[in-house]
Amino acid sequence: ARPPAPVNEPVKSYAPGSPERASLRAEVARMGAEHREILPYINGKTVETGRTVSVVEPHDHQHELATVHNARKEDVEAAIQGALDARHDWSRMAWTDRAAVFLKAAELLAGPFRDRMNASTMLGQSKNVFQAEIDAAAEMVDFFRFNVHFMRGLYEDQPVSDPGIWNRTEYRGLEGFVFAVSPFNFTSIAANLCAAPAMMGNTVVWKPAPTQMLSAQVIVELFEEAGLPPGVIQMLPGEGADVGDPVIASEHLAGLHFTGSTKTFQHLWHTVGSNLDHYRTYPRIVGETGGKDFIVAHESANADAVATAIVRGSFEYQGQKCSAASRVYLPESLWPAVKESLLSQLDEITVGAPQDFSNFVNAVIDDRAFAKITGYIDRAQKASGVDVIAGGTYSDETGYFVDPTVLVAEDPRYQTMEEEIFGPVASVYVAPKSQSFDEVLELVDSTSPYALTGAVFAQDRRVIAHAADKLAEAAGNFYINDKPTGAVVGQQPFGGARGSGTNDKAGSMLNLLRWTSLRSIKENF
Ligand code: SER
Repeated sequence: ARPPAPVNEPVKSYAPGSPERASLRAEVARMGAEHREILPYINGKTVETGRTVSVVEPHDHQHELATVHNARKEDVEAAIQGALDARHDWSRMAWTDRAAVFLKAAELLAGPFRDRMNASTMLGQSKNVFQAEIDAAAEMVDFFRFNVHFMRGLYEDQPVSDPGIWNRTEYRGLEGFVFAVSPFNFTSIAANLCAAPAMMGNTVVWKPAPTQMLSAQVIVELFEEAGLPPGVIQMLPGEGADVGDPVIASEHLAGLHFTGSTKTFQHLWHTVGSNLDHYRTYPRIVGETGGKDFIVAHESANADAVATAIVRGSFEYQGQKCSAASRVYLPESLWPAVKESLLSQLDEITVGAPQDFSNFVNAVIDDRAFAKITGYIDRAQKASGVDVIAGGTYSDETGYFVDPTVLVAEDPRYQTMEEEIFGPVASVYVAPKSQSFDEVLELVDSTSPYALTGAVFAQDRRVIAHAADKLAEAAGNFYINDKPTGAVVGQQPFGGARGSGTNDKAGSMLNLLRWTSLRSIKENF
């Protein structure tokens, strides 16, 4: 029962004049004009709760896209009970049948669902067409296809047997349910936080970010059309206190699959700790949180390549990627050329709504993000020893727009070099001649509590090898002469350690292993 060999889904270009562009445009217009009701999805049915909140376009906050019904206490209880009830049949289904649901979801998404998933991500999360395509279409398809491939590899891994006996390993789903908590910034991550445990035979209670609800609803529609049985993935909209806290405290919690803020992850882990006496099994905890991702360039680096990595690494999706480059270290000798190239590339960038496919930068996700990011910018404008050389301007009149901002900080430990901003702000430290490259690597390693992604730029091979060694623990995804974003499933398994998470690499066998509880069987003949 070998499933089809996985291949990465080709990324469509949506070039001007192409039929795919016309088709996506029409879907964006259609979805923007309709008004959706988004309801909790429990046991395959939607539930009206009357506790409504509205979803608006981040780039046009007067434009309401949907009304969401948040889950009540009784909905949370029903979702947990339903997940426990669905577990028996789902976990005993042949793994090939479970895999087939996700392979079918991949086919649907590569085909008829592609426009809908992309349009919901563009409108609801303010992504440009390319950023939506690499996430909501290509990466989500890849997660499903590659995880099925890894799943097969795992299930086929069986122990040896001495003559006269037969040893088997059963890969069972965890006893209880898995709680998936997803962020707003990647639609594919939300889908995979549910799909990975589900394909391994678990049932899942899912709390999407309130700012991702439009595409969350499309994910539910996709799973339903792919034949996912009722109760296997239960979707509960709501805030952490109403949904997260009661779900995490359930005695049947068997796992937490999380991507989001460090603060929320730590809160959930603390809650697990304080409930330890009361769980039936030790919950597995898998989480990916923040980053303060670096670019460090050696004097032998190519200045244009460094500048392009800053533009793409720091400003694609408005810097709202946990992998976004947000601190840059350069030698004095390289800075003038990098600066020139950077400023001229930034000149070409336009900021605006994603409905205009030519905009590179769209809005940040909501008013809270806008206030946090612009707070950093305002403080930087006033600080001595900090020079704002690009951007520094913003407006929330129509949508939450922040122009790509580059700061040069004299102090390599200035707050924007240390703290996660999650917005379009890149901080540059220009190392004086008196500071060795080794000292700079030391700074890179010690400045932030995170260790998610990072990039080194150099031509000299000895330098690359040395930097890779010195920064061995500083990034779970390490890039050489490339931007530190855009990991591809099956090519660069993604995740970080230190303050960035448990490093159980999304889209890998390591991750799937966390969602299975093995039974070893020995039979004597
Ligand atoms: N996987 C994404 C990237 O590599 C971040 O979540 O950019």
